[in-house]
Amino acid sequence: METLTLVGCQFGDEGKGKIIDFLSKDYDLNVRFNGGENAGHTVVVGDRVIKYHLVPAGFLSAKSVVIASGVVVNLRRLVQEIEFLRSFKSAFDLRISEIAHVVTELHFKRDKYLEGVRGKGIIGTTLKGIGPAYESKYGRYGIRLLDFEDRQRLVDNLALLSTIYQIPIEKGYVDELLEDYEKIRGYLTDARSFLQEQIDDGKSALFETAQGTFIDIESGTYPFVTSSYTTSGGVTVGTGLPPKYFKKFMGVAKAYTTRVGEGMFPTEIFGTVGDQLRMLGSEYGSTTGRPRRVGYLDLPMLRRAVKLNGLDYIALTKVDVLGKLKEVKVAVSYEQNGTEIEEFDPTVVPDKINYESFTPWEGEPSKLQSYIEFIESELKVPIVLLGIGEKREEIEVRGQISFD
Ligand code: GDP
Ligand code: IMO
Ligand code: MG
Repeated sequence: METLTLVGCQFGDEGKGKIIDFLSKDYDLNVRFNGGENAGHTVVVGDRVIKYHLVPAGFLSAKSVVIASGVVVNLRRLVQEIEFLRSFKSAFDLRISEIAHVVTELHFKRDKYLEGVRGKGIIGTTLKGIGPAYESKYGRYGIRLLDFEDRQRLVDNLALLSTIYQIPIEKGYVDELLEDYEKIRGYLTDARSFLQEQIDDGKSALFETAQGTFIDIESGTYPFVTSSYTTSGGVTVGTGLPPKYFKKFMGVAKAYTTRVGEGMFPTEIFGTVGDQLRMLGSEYGSTTGRPRRVGYLDLPMLRRAVKLNGLDYIALTKVDVLGKLKEVKVAVSYEQNGTEIEEFDPTVVPDKINYESFTPWEGEPSKLQSYIEFIESELKVPIVLLGIGEKREEIEVRGQISFD
């Protein structure tokens, strides 16, 4: 069974899009299993930039792409994204789970309201209605794509949501929703059955998370997290497939760390060094354009990501960017009340961070080699892919993925 699940090892934006785009040529299926348009997965094709929000980032190369039931779908965004992607590839096989939940304008308003009432405790969400869409899913008053088949059912479901949220529905909104729905209706299917049949038939599949390990609703830096399961466990609930269908797991890690929104960040860099790294790495949110907070690579965090996700392989991105800094530092451990801590724990704010320094490697690849070997030996997981530039072809293969 050739199934690979790809997750983000930090706070999101690790470069998953680029790695998925690269890997997907070797897979029959590419499947997104969580999140919504809060995700922005970038692929740079020549002088054009694709930011995938809902469609799996292997769209250009995988034989079929699937939006599984764990994803929450904003119909207008999906319609626009498909239209945009048509200019790159006109014949494609896209399938969308008919039981995926829909993000409505009521969810957008609720997101804004919830952020407003939090005051200083603001999460810094993308304001794309993601938390509320999962909130209504788990509250059992969500709206699924298949509800759109019956106008009255849709109207009734929206009315319930409107009552619970105490937010009125704008005039003409139902027609607008149905208009968008008509445009994607042909892609709807029982995605779980389709995937199960295909994999049983020997097809290979690449599963793609949105976001990163430490903004996972269960294992992340709660409450500064997103509302879905971003870690490898999320792939089974987000696709409906039983756990035994998932063979190997790869984590994407940026050679440094970034975070958008609030929440703990042990290796955060402030001041001019931080500004320089943000500029060198063009660290601005793919979805909201917000400046990303930046910091050094955090090995305690990666150690936990390896454990939480059961990683078999790592793809390390943006080593080209880090090499341009005057001094490259890596957090190797933390300290808490005088005790050394090897692994990040979202419930513990460390007193001290212990760093090791490396000389930058721009134009000196041997130094890059020792940096990578150091990370590999600390994590005990092979780094099989290296991101060495933003273009889709700027990837170095260091090792093979085996399904044995
Ligand atoms: P994702 O959400 O994990 O897919 O990551 P994003 O696309 O939000 O952010 C990653 C950013 O880094 C994008 O602008 C990518 O084009 C860029 N990127 C990815 N890999 C590399 C790399 O190896 N080097 C450089 N310079 N840029 C990269
Ligand atoms: P990709 O898939 C980085 C962050 C938001 C905020 C928190 C909650 O591109 O890696 P939400 O709108 O989800 O309720 O916001 O999660 N966040 C991301 N940060 N990359 C992402 O996706 C993110 N998706 C959500 O900034 O801090
Ligand atoms: Mg992103």
